[in-house]
Amino acid sequence: VIVVDTFADARARGRGTVAVVPTMGFLHEGHLSLLEAARHESDTVTMTLYVNPLQFEEEQDLARYPADLDRDLALAEAAGVDIVFAPTQESMFGERPATIVDLPALTSVMEGAFRPGHFAGVATVVAKLFAGLQPDLAYFGRKDAQQLTVVRTLAADLSFPVRVVGRPIVREADGLALSSRNIFLDDEARRRALALSDALAVVVESVASGERSAAAIEDVARGRLDAAEGLNVEYAQLASQDDASLIEILDRPAFLAVAARVGPVRLIDNVHFDVDGDLVVADTGVHLQEPSLLYESRP
Ligand code: PAF
Repeated sequence: VIVVDTFADARARGRGTVAVVPTMGFLHEGHLSLLEAARHESDTVTMTLYVNPLQFEEEQDLARYPADLDRDLALAEAAGVDIVFAPTQESMFGERPATIVDLPALTSVMEGAFRPGHFAGVATVVAKLFAGLQPDLAYFGRKDAQQLTVVRTLAADLSFPVRVVGRPIVREADGLALSSRNIFLDDEARRRALALSDALAVVVESVASGERSAAAIEDVARGRLDAAEGLNVEYAQLASQDDASLIEILDRPAFLAVAARVGPVRLIDNVHFDVDGDLVVADTGVHLQEPSLLYESRP
């Protein structure tokens, strides 16, 4: 794998169809599934590795974000990545940029409401990566459901000629959605964290038995989360995949997203509902059989 730190170098090395997989490093199987899809569907796979300070609204969260460059490069190499774009902090946002990409209409609820400024930080860096790398394809996980909607929308609004591909959530064997932050959960917190995926499983059952009212679906999730011990629940809401607006009836592609704090760790999870006529299909993601590689190397 070739490591570059300028956009010009990354572009010069791209051949044929170029796919970009943006990451903040400390890779897990969720990232690897994006890289695998990118590898299948393009000629050049460029992984970006950049912990973007603009999207952290808590300094402490940024300061302790796990990082291990050698580990990430070895995993990227094994996943068949061609180019790792790992810019320095100075070359990206050494100075706060004068240009901010913000999508207020999509970010007043859920993560946008609980993390003010977060999505402007994400949108600004993603726009910069799209402009600088000029990819044909870009891969994002459905785990960050609202982020995926934000990215699709900014790509369309700013006419980036990129196809944004969303991929299913990857879960640990017991259902916990993979996140680099999972390494901060002790045994008890990790047990408690399972309430998120449990709540989503109950939601899926309720929708499978015909429930379409957002209020009823949200109540099911909320009831399960509120009953769990040691969880500080932030929200359980149903939103449109198209524009991340809250909806009242599950009659279009949507996602039910939950967020909660477990001790010092803030976790999010969701289930996507794809709608085809009268048919509603739940995408709950895929499960690992083995413990995640996250736990092989705690920083
Ligand atoms: O999902 C992430 O890891 C980040 O938000 C992203 C897309 C790499 C932008 O910094």
